[in-house]
Amino acid sequence: MIKGEAWLDTALMQEVASESQNQHVALADKKTALLLYDLASRENINNILEIGTGLGYATLTMAAAQKSKGSGRITSIELVCGRYHRACEYVYRAGFGDFVELLFGDAKKLIKELSGPWDLLFFDAAMGQYGFFADTLLPYLNPKGYLVADNINFYKPETGQTILRRHRTMEKRLKEFKASLLTKPGLKLAEYAFGEGLLVIEKKEEKND
Ligand SMILES: C[S@@+](CC[C@H](N)C(=O)[O-])C[C@H]1O[C@@H](n2cnc3c(N)ncnc32)[C@H](O)[C@@H]1O
Repeated sequence: MIKGEAWLDTALMQEVASESQNQHVALADKKTALLLYDLASRENINNILEIGTGLGYATLTMAAAQKSKGSGRITSIELVCGRYHRACEYVYRAGFGDFVELLFGDAKKLIKELSGPWDLLFFDAAMGQYGFFADTLLPYLNPKGYLVADNINFYKPETGQTILRRHRTMEKRLKEFKASLLTKPGLKLAEYAFGEGLLVIEKKEEKND
């Protein structure tokens, strides 16, 4: 079994996953978690920012990769106090305190106070604000770094699903977010049908010519 899969199979991670499901806190899809594990294992991916900790499933996955390679730091932001506290407890139980800093509060405010630079940005909350998060944080993403945005296809018109009014704005903003990325130079985009859709954006290396 590869390292990432073995980590997701541990009793601790099974507990985080089942508590998240019982508490109706969406968690990263398994394929997304494995991709994050792979990215966090790379030598150049050290400083990670996650927006939307939930109970810590993705945080712990990326931290496991960093502990295994022996370097790195993850900052993760969560808006709901009870979830933040549960995630703190899981980080403590996993023994990942040296690799993880959990912040309680609204990412929209907190990201302005963080300095970066970042090697990996993982957006897993407030899809309507992805455009704002990207505009604020992309300038601080290092070359060869990644922005991974989850749930980008949460609305599936082909299923005949009725879109709730409050989701309509989110859907419109997500479209604008994707369109604006296409206009920015130096980014390479890939989309995956993991969970409710995953967008993976690589910032290309700067050329000095
Ligand atoms: C999909 S869950 C995150 C799942 C987590 N990444 C995982 O893999 O287990 C989204 C989380 O983002 C939080 N959230 C929503 N809006 C936020 C905001 N503006 N700032 C910080 N967290 C937010 C929610 O409370 C929720 O716990």
